[in-house]
Amino acid sequence: MKVLVTAELPEVGMECLRREHEVILETGGRDAVLARLPEVDGLVCLLSDTVGTDWMEAGKRLRVISVYAAGTNNVDIQAAQARGIAVTNTPDVLTEATADLALLLILGITRRLDEGVRMMVNRQFSGWAPDLLLGRELSALNVGIFGAGRIGRAVMRKLSVFGPRVIYCNRSGPHPEADRWGQHVDFKELLSQSDLLSLHAPLTEKTRHLFQRELFKDLKRRPFIVNTARGPLIREKDLVEALREGWVSGAALDVFEFEPKVTDELYAMERVLLLPHLGSATRETRDAMAVLAAENTIAILAGKHCPNRVV
Ligand code: DGY
Repeated sequence: MKVLVTAELPEVGMECLRREHEVILETGGRDAVLARLPEVDGLVCLLSDTVGTDWMEAGKRLRVISVYAAGTNNVDIQAAQARGIAVTNTPDVLTEATADLALLLILGITRRLDEGVRMMVNRQFSGWAPDLLLGRELSALNVGIFGAGRIGRAVMRKLSVFGPRVIYCNRSGPHPEADRWGQHVDFKELLSQSDLLSLHAPLTEKTRHLFQRELFKDLKRRPFIVNTARGPLIREKDLVEALREGWVSGAALDVFEFEPKVTDELYAMERVLLLPHLGSATRETRDAMAVLAAENTIAILAGKHCPNRVV
């Protein structure tokens, strides 16, 4: 059978696919992909490919859309389901890498890493001073975890080394593993008690723009906001206002509302640490994701059970 891949993935994954199927690599963007879709049985795509009904209608033979990511919000899941097209993802293998990056941002934003780096790059360091770029100490903070899925729980586990009080809010309620590392609270309490909020929830209609003006305005402890989940959880223009007004103490973002576009003001603001969606970006993880995306595709095309089938 034929499988279309929209980007050059790590060779281990490509190799795995080629052993079973004919692989068509099409990196020319939407129109080029649409032109090749009618001939393929499987599609391996990136989180940046917006796979809507247009793709599914072009892909008359499509049986599987294998997303090279944990989040599948880039695919019109209902449309796929209605057409009997399986959608799969690559969870688990990216948990540690993404949680590590969240920790990096948590430490970075509380210790003013971005400002320190900028100071050095601009050759403005003029000597040690008692009040130079004072940050906050994690062990003195309440860290609130929004979403205690695999990544949220890994962040909680890793945080325990630094000693903050950890609270968490989870859409399906308390989780036994999360309870080892933190205390379950409701959303309201999470917002009122956190000095730092780290977002780990999937993007759904319920979570889209959950973090917007009214919510920011009401935050009691002016928390830092860290987002390694999905950009549209936050309405970016409201975050800019929240930073300006001091409703939040800082923001560390790896994902953006209009990715790859970043709201312009954020580039120039202090207490803002930005990364270009690097959550899962380690060699080990990307290799494992590529193999898993290939295995998911192969399993579905062979009519076998696939544990990473979303629909
Ligand atoms: C995912 O898989 O959802 C990550 O954001 C990729 O980095």
